[in-house]
Amino acid sequence: MSTYTEDNRKVTTLRFSEMKQKGEKISMLTSYDFTMASIADQAGLDAVLIGDSASNVMVGNSTTLPMTLDQMIFMGRSVVNGVKRAMVVIDMPFGSCSGNPEKSLEAAIRMMKETGADALKIEGGEEIIEDIRKIVNAGIPVMGHLGLMPQSINKYGSYAIRAKDDKESKKLLSDIRLLEEAGCFSVVLEKIPAKLAEEATKSTTMATIGIGAGPATDGQVLVIHDMLGMNKGFSPKFLRKYADLHTVMTDAIQTYVKDVKSNDFPNEKESY
Ligand code: KIV
Repeated sequence: MSTYTEDNRKVTTLRFSEMKQKGEKISMLTSYDFTMASIADQAGLDAVLIGDSASNVMVGNSTTLPMTLDQMIFMGRSVVNGVKRAMVVIDMPFGSCSGNPEKSLEAAIRMMKETGADALKIEGGEEIIEDIRKIVNAGIPVMGHLGLMPQSINKYGSYAIRAKDDKESKKLLSDIRLLEEAGCFSVVLEKIPAKLAEEATKSTTMATIGIGAGPATDGQVLVIHDMLGMNKGFSPKFLRKYADLHTVMTDAIQTYVKDVKSNDFPNEKESY
C-alpha cells in the first residue's frame, strides 16, 4: 500500500503515543480535498491535517481568520472520504473555540459528526484550557497548537518566530503542561527555536509535531502545496520543497493550450 511503511493499521491516538515512545517520527501534511488526501494516504503519510491554511492556499486570503465552520466541514468530509490509514485531524477555525466551553463543545461535536475526522486541532493554551478540557471530556481527541498561532496574527502583527524570549518560552512550556493535563494527545509547535522545541518534547508525554521547530519534535508537518512547490512566492527557511509542481503544472497547461489551438487535441484516438 505505501512506499515506506508496511504497517497498514489505521493511525490512532494510541499509535501516536507508541510512535513517540519508540522514537518513530510522525509524518503529517495538510490536505483540503479528496484527491490530494487519497494520494497522501496511499503514499504512507501518518496524519493528514485539514488545516485552516486552506484560507491561504485554497482561497487566496492573507490570513486564516475568514474560514468558517461550514467551510471547514465541507473540506473535512472530502478529505475523510479519501483517507483509509492516516489519522485525519481538522482545525477548529478562528472564533469557534475562544473561551465559551459550551459553544466550543457544540462546534467540536458538529465538526466530528459532519466530517468523520479522527481528531480536532485547536490553537491556544491557558486562555482556552476550559474549552479544551470540555471537548476532551466529551471523548474528542484534541491536538493543541502553540508557538506561532496564525489565528492570532492580528495580535502579533507578524509571522516572525515566536518564544525567543524567556517570558514567552516559559509560557509555552507552562501551556504544554496545561494541554497535557487537559488530556490533549498531541501538540503542534510552530516556528519556535529548535532548542525550546526539544525541551518541550522531552517535557511531555504528548507527541509534538513541529513546523519550523527543528528536528527534535516527535513529528513534522508542512502545508502540502508548499512542500510540493506549487507556490513560487513562499520560501521560508523551514520549508523543504520536494517537487516543483508549479513548473510541472505550468508546462502541462501551456502544452494543452498549444494543442487545443493547433487542433492537435483531441485526435482520432481520443474521439468517439
Ligand atoms: O492550518 C495549518 O495548515 C496548520 C499547520 C501549518 C500546522 O495549522
